[in-house]
Amino acid sequence: MKKIITKDILEAWLDNVRPYAKDGKVADYIPALARSNPEDLAVAVVDLEDECVSAGALESQFTLQSISKVLSLAQALLDNGEDYVFERVGMEPSGDPFHSIYKLEQLNPSKPLNPMINAGALAVTNMIHGVTPDEKVGRLLSFIHDLTDDQSIRYNEEVSSSEFGTAYLNRSLCYYMKQHGVISGSVEENLDAYTKQCAIEVNIHHLARIGAIFANEGKDLNSGRQILPRHLARICKTFMVTCGMYDASGSFAIRVGIPAKSGVSGAVVGSVNGYGGIAVYGPALDDRGNSVVGLKLLELLSNRYDLSIF
Ligand code: DON
Repeated sequence: MKKIITKDILEAWLDNVRPYAKDGKVADYIPALARSNPEDLAVAVVDLEDECVSAGALESQFTLQSISKVLSLAQALLDNGEDYVFERVGMEPSGDPFHSIYKLEQLNPSKPLNPMINAGALAVTNMIHGVTPDEKVGRLLSFIHDLTDDQSIRYNEEVSSSEFGTAYLNRSLCYYMKQHGVISGSVEENLDAYTKQCAIEVNIHHLARIGAIFANEGKDLNSGRQILPRHLARICKTFMVTCGMYDASGSFAIRVGIPAKSGVSGAVVGSVNGYGGIAVYGPALDDRGNSVVGLKLLELLSNRYDLSIF
């Protein structure tokens, strides 16, 4: 690490940002997420030697939600290669909210603008190899087991079925894309795989380790094994910069400057090349669906430790 971050510092900063939680609201459009406790805050930093410094609610488990989109993209690229994937999903920021259908109807051919918005992520899930939804999710889970070095990670069935039962907008996006030939096969099965991938459950340490492996050019922190080829890790990090925080990606790049991805569970993962991974968790969200406390904490960390990549 460039400068030493200690547990005491992280604890003090968590206390500083705690009051901001009241400015946000936990996601309630996925019924199981509405029960999250906005007071549960956690932060972890994992460096390239696999050393972890963490503070807060370390025992909290949360679901990846949109953070899974970076990992499913990596899996789809591993399975199909860049040409195949980017024929079906674009590389440009949308400037729209994550669940928007607006640009899909405007563009011809009707290809989602990028893999981080819901439309793009649903198309990416469709490309992951596997005959059944469980086979696709199983392959994504094995990749996540490698990244976290923890074989016990699973998806939370209560969260996935709660989302599956209420995901009318994501269903609409899928049916629209099916009509236009962007996705193939059963829409319900695609939604099944997608809601399970979003419900993969981790803790703050797992998430920071994932960020660290991306920062380590896709190599395992201990063995040096290339879990993900360097150029694919780069593609994922670039999407984190341009689209990771949706229609707040520009202001986040200016204020924080760290490739990062958020999820509506309130988690955010950041990845700083040559430095490590940073994960923050705080379920109260702003109106863009990003963690209020998480953003504040990342801004403090980035400024104090000079982590902006720009
Ligand atoms: O598809 C959805 O709406 C959720 N499963 C994930 C959305 C999400 O995390 C957006 N991020 N901030």
